[in-house]
Amino acid sequence: MLDLVIRGADVIDGSGSAGVVTDVGIEGDQITLIGDAGPAHQEIDGTGLVLAPGLIDTHAHDDGAFLRHPDMTFKLSQGVTTVVSGNCGFSAIPFDPESDPRKASGGILSGLNGAFTDLSGYFDAVLAGAPAINNMMLVGHNTIRSLVMDDPKQAPNQRDLKAMSGHVERALEQGACGFSTGLIYHPGRYSQTEEIVALAELAGRTGALYTTHMRNEGDHLLDAVEEALRIGVEAKVHTHISHHKAAGAANWGKVVPSLARIDAAIAAGQRVSLDVYPYTAGSGRMIEYFNLDRINRDLAEVIRIASCPAYREYEGQMLKDIAKAQDVDITDLVRDILTAPRGADTICIQFIIDEQDVEFNLRWRDMMVGSDGIPNLRGKPHPRLYGTFAKILGYYVRERALMSLPEAIRRMTSLPAATFGMTQRGMVRAGFKADLLLFDPATVQDTATYDEPQQLAAGIRTVLVNGKIAWQDGQHQMTGSGQMLKYRAGAYAG
Ligand code: CU
Ligand code: ZN
Repeated sequence: MLDLVIRGADVIDGSGSAGVVTDVGIEGDQITLIGDAGPAHQEIDGTGLVLAPGLIDTHAHDDGAFLRHPDMTFKLSQGVTTVVSGNCGFSAIPFDPESDPRKASGGILSGLNGAFTDLSGYFDAVLAGAPAINNMMLVGHNTIRSLVMDDPKQAPNQRDLKAMSGHVERALEQGACGFSTGLIYHPGRYSQTEEIVALAELAGRTGALYTTHMRNEGDHLLDAVEEALRIGVEAKVHTHISHHKAAGAANWGKVVPSLARIDAAIAAGQRVSLDVYPYTAGSGRMIEYFNLDRINRDLAEVIRIASCPAYREYEGQMLKDIAKAQDVDITDLVRDILTAPRGADTICIQFIIDEQDVEFNLRWRDMMVGSDGIPNLRGKPHPRLYGTFAKILGYYVRERALMSLPEAIRRMTSLPAATFGMTQRGMVRAGFKADLLLFDPATVQDTATYDEPQQLAAGIRTVLVNGKIAWQDGQHQMTGSGQMLKYRAGAYAG
């Protein structure tokens, strides 16, 4: 007898095909039957609802959250069953328990602690806490560079490069799906293209990915795209461009030539993919965006404070409003925040993206969705942490009709599963893992806002992770059935 059957839902299988009303049967952690099902130990009525594969967040910074918040409510509650962590050059591994984890993680990976040093050890540490969802990992350039180099502003010598290569190879051997960079951040910004080619090439050898937060997303976006494509060609590696955008009003619209250039590379045979988050604001550590000797006033004008250990009262406020209320110059305010005790840990939200560009990105045929959520739950985090996927389904699919529902599901399930080498995931198909999402297409909607960012998505009925009911009607089931995934090249071949 089946362990579980979901009866009569409109099954959108993740392939891009239209839905079919049928039953889906589950035994253990697998989907074993699609079609008329007999009795089962447990039944779920799917009438009037859509059943889809669990969603995949291609751009997460959840490395530390898996240790600190294994319930992963901010992702699970939206129907996300798998994330790709270790993005933007920051990863939990390699890890040196002796050194300050903030140094290597750039302060965005909350809660890094433990005795692990490599990916296998990290996976064991996470599994010991029974995580609610699945995780796949990238190994990050900034982390490795901080760990290996005494002076990260220098170019690496042969010994440094060998040590960095060793860390990348070890992570790939242990199941990482690729190598990530964050070339606007410290210390990645000091690296030359050749260094990245040498390290990305190691990922290329195993068929894994090179993912990049490019060197520039604003005035020099198009140059940065050229560099990313060049790295892909020279390192013979699949290049994945993270959170594609044109930052700053002067650059709005540049996503059009940028995507055209990427289309040309793909037409010429290069493997390139992308993701985007569906918001007009970015978010990150405030100190990374400012030069204290020459504070960018225009940028300061569009910044809101998410989390600020030095001044909790600033959280949720725009810098310009704080400056006005205190009658201080906004550049002095920025300097004061960043030089205060723990000022470097301040997380900000920057309103730097044009809504038209977001829509242009989402219309691109194979655009994937990555939340880029920063799981720092103090203060007012960017709403993308809790809202990204429900916003795609509710706002961009149902209200704006930028794409059909089966197409949106494909972009958030089978496409990322195939791209990131996930075996037997991303489709509702017999023999695949039972990562499933049952939701109401008429009511699904994000409710997380900039003012109230930690609100749960509406319209999500049931989420299954590896065959277990992990989320039901707004209630976490604490089944802890998430797995740590290992990259497999050609997971979808044939
Ligand atoms: Cu990121
Ligand atoms: Zn990034």
